[in-house]
Amino acid sequence: MNVADSLSLFTLEKRPDFVETDFIGDIVQRALMYLRAGYPVHFSGPPGAGKTALAMHVAAQLQQEVVLIHGDDGFGGADLVGDSNAYRCTEVLDNYVHSVVKKETRLVRHWVDNRVTWACRHGYTLIYDEFTRSRPETNNVLLPVLEERLLALPGAPQAERYLPVHPNFAAIFTSNPEEYAGVHRSQDALTDRMITVQLDHHDAETEIAITQAKSGVGQAEARALVRMVREFRALFGGARPTIRACIMLARLVVMRGGVVDAGDPIFRKICRDVVNIDLSRGRQALRTCAQDSIDHVIDACCAHGAHDLPGDDEAAEAGDPQALRQRPACAGMEAAA
Ligand SMILES: Nc1ncnc2c1ncn2[C@@H]1O[C@H](COP(=O)(O)OP(=O)(O)OP(=O)(O)O)[C@@H](O)[C@H]1O
Ligand SMILES: [Mg+2]
Repeated sequence: MNVADSLSLFTLEKRPDFVETDFIGDIVQRALMYLRAGYPVHFSGPPGAGKTALAMHVAAQLQQEVVLIHGDDGFGGADLVGDSNAYRCTEVLDNYVHSVVKKETRLVRHWVDNRVTWACRHGYTLIYDEFTRSRPETNNVLLPVLEERLLALPGAPQAERYLPVHPNFAAIFTSNPEEYAGVHRSQDALTDRMITVQLDHHDAETEIAITQAKSGVGQAEARALVRMVREFRALFGGARPTIRACIMLARLVVMRGGVVDAGDPIFRKICRDVVNIDLSRGRQALRTCAQDSIDHVIDACCAHGAHDLPGDDEAAEAGDPQALRQRPACAGMEAAA
């Protein structure tokens, strides 16, 4: 395995299925401007907001090699910058007098760069996905990198203790502030050195375009599925179900012939399976209400009969979360939730 493989070094190209609507293009342009001005960019937002996809896309536009790190609670400093735990072995075989063989073996500690050092040294783009999963003290090595453009390598040979960061070095971070398990609070000192682009779920048109691009489903069908998932999201009152639910449903619909039909009992079961986990997190009153309302939302957004998908106004009226909350089954839900 060469160094590039061992350090997850790769080049990124714009993915053909990446959707760049005006909404996304605007974010991409701003991110590129910040990076070109020398500032790290941080995409922050709920699950499925497209943080990782955007980070990859923006990195591809920079047209230089990319180093990818996924935040991990088990990381120590060495996992980011490297250490001198490797040994270089040299052997000298002395056979000057033919009857005497002298062999001398020397082991010298040898510094090995890890991913951050590699990116700083050679001017690559660092994508640090979900950086708040690593402990804050581990991420401290990045503070001087982002401000003074200097990487401190305490265990390295004397002459290399401070590595000047290459001018092409760029850093893109992602984090999910709403995640409650397995993450640490980000240090103010670190986030103060980056420009944070706050993301939320994409607008409906972008979600429809992504659903189509990722599944090949027809536009009317993508529109119906996205509308349904957005209704569930509003109904459950959280970040989920996300765009991933739209993509899952769309791929399953394509697999089954490309038809969105509320009259199809299998389709209804698939919808429930895809969103059930989001329901199970709600309180009991919300769960009971939402279980009851799932059928209503499916009917409102998908209609019965293959090519008879309801129009936006019709669905909005029937599937309006406010209207659903006022239905008898949901009475008192808001108070309980
Ligand atoms: N602009 C886009 N074009 C095409 N696909 C996209 C786009 N944005 C997001 N997606 C797709 O939507 C899904 C969710 O996006 P992504 O993984 O980037 O979200 P995330 O915010 O990183 O979520 P998490 O916090 O769970 O990691 C993925 O399947 C991704 O490929
Ligand atoms: Mg992600």
